[in-house]
Amino acid sequence: MKAIGIVGSPRKNGNTEILTSHTLKAIAEEGLDTELIRLAGLDIKPCTGCLLCHDEESCPIDDDLWPIYLKMKEADAIILATPVYFSSATALIRALMERAGYIAYKNGRLFEGKVGGPLAVSGRSGQNATLAQLNYWFNVLGFFVPGSTYFNIAFGLEKGEVEKDEKGLRTAWDFGKNIAFLVKKLKD
Ligand SMILES: Cc1cc2nc3c(=O)[nH]c(=O)nc-3n(C[C@H](O)[C@H](O)[C@H](O)COP(=O)(O)O)c2cc1C
Repeated sequence: MKAIGIVGSPRKNGNTEILTSHTLKAIAEEGLDTELIRLAGLDIKPCTGCLLCHDEESCPIDDDLWPIYLKMKEADAIILATPVYFSSATALIRALMERAGYIAYKNGRLFEGKVGGPLAVSGRSGQNATLAQLNYWFNVLGFFVPGSTYFNIAFGLEKGEVEKDEKGLRTAWDFGKNIAFLVKKLKD
């Protein structure tokens, strides 16, 4: 059983990465394998709408998406984590969502029945719109999305500031525990 956390910040070692690591730690404590996948520095282009993936499970864009797509297919749980940029998920994670989501959707709903959910970090505002954006993706692709003890958000502007957000960290931790619980139940 494996859970992956995909971090859509273009900034390495930032708040979103810290928060995602925290969630993955909670999941690992329950005996699942975990992996953090950092999109920073990778080349992931947006979907061009060519619709080749309607006919075959592939994408003609030659960049860093495919190895991550394969990891998503293999995982039992997928967390999408993003900083808030102008009340939205980042362009980087949106590009991954568009392409990985559409390839999976059009080739037999390949993510259906997986467990997943969002995490969003901002300096001050915009997390709710961002969570909604991410949740639409999980919902239409047929994920089971567990809750937590609060909304899956945390605050932090400068690198590392999220470590001061106790409630945000606790929510991310409890979310990880619920992810692990649900993955194990579904495997029973
Ligand atoms: C282009 C850009 C847009 C941002 N927009 C918002 C915003 O709408 N609301 C907000 O509270 N913070 C905003 N921020 C702040 C980031 O959400 C915040 O610094 C966050 O911790 C970054 O996460 P990271 O450290 O994982 O990169 C923005 C930052 C950047 C660079």
